[in-house]
Amino acid sequence: MDLSTYRIGIIGGGNMGQAIIKGLRAAPQSPTISAWDAAGDCRELLKENLQVTVSQDNRELVLNSDIIILAVKPQIIDAVMAEIASSLTTEKLLISIAAGVPCKRLEKPLQKPVPTIRIMPNTPALINRGISAIAVGSQALEKHLEIAENIFACLGETVLVPESSMDMVTAVSGSGPAYIFLVIEAMLDAAVGLGLARDLARKLVIETVLGSTEMLKKSGKHPMELKDMVTSPGGTTITGLAELERYGLRHAFNEALKSACKRSQELGK
Ligand SMILES: NC(=O)c1ccc[n+]([C@@H]2O[C@H](COP(=O)([O-])OP(=O)(O)OC[C@H]3O[C@@H](n4cnc5c(N)ncnc54)[C@H](OP(=O)(O)O)[C@@H]3O)[C@@H](O)[C@H]2O)c1
Repeated sequence: MDLSTYRIGIIGGGNMGQAIIKGLRAAPQSPTISAWDAAGDCRELLKENLQVTVSQDNRELVLNSDIIILAVKPQIIDAVMAEIASSLTTEKLLISIAAGVPCKRLEKPLQKPVPTIRIMPNTPALINRGISAIAVGSQALEKHLEIAENIFACLGETVLVPESSMDMVTAVSGSGPAYIFLVIEAMLDAAVGLGLARDLARKLVIETVLGSTEMLKKSGKHPMELKDMVTSPGGTTITGLAELERYGLRHAFNEALKSACKRSQELGK
């Protein structure tokens, strides 16, 4: 799809807003991009470092865009919607990446059938290795979905999900990078605790995580099968795994994901 025919307006130029801008800039046919952010220093950065047209305000941004991406925190979505509702028309496409906010909450103040799409990206989008789950609102058509898929393909992989799965997706891939960073940090500190130099520990842990996930992806095998391959009877790995189970790693992940999913549901209310 040729994205260069579209004018994309981004509301909120923080972490994710900037990741989207960078991803779109690297696309073979880059669209026209404008943005607005409440913070003056962020607007300056958008203009100077990312060469984005900065609008006067959110309303002007919407008037001059075909596709509007809401990249602000969930807590201020309603205020932004109240600001832009009258400028949105049925010819425009509204995309939100706000955690927990359902399409029907975006549609409610509009009082006209504006197509909406909800997307949950994740931070590896900053290096084009993200995964974005896409769910369509009640007024979105196949052509709108195609546009959204093409925009977010600039940030990594995309996957289509029913909106009812979005809170679960948020808990898994939206919040997921932070869980993995914590696991890596724990493993790194444990390696230093054993007596390894931090630089060496960092290299060993990062390459182990990268190699293991790559192996899992390429082989198509179940993680248990790959785990069995490295656990020889009475060996070191089975001893380590037994400790991870004893201290409840599996249970901790179960509780963490349940709690993150619940929080996503709360943010949507
Ligand atoms: N970061 C993630 O890992 C991640 C992953 C998936 C989805 N998301 C979703 O992405 C959205 C943005 O997250 P983020 O991490 O990019 O947040 P962020 O870095 O805080 O960026 C949001 C930006 O929006 C600005 N803003 C506040 N009010 C505004 C308004 N009325 N109009 C325009 N801009 C306004 C903020 O300015 P101030 O700082 O001055 O308020 C801030 O610069 C959130 O809804 C989040 O749920 C984030």
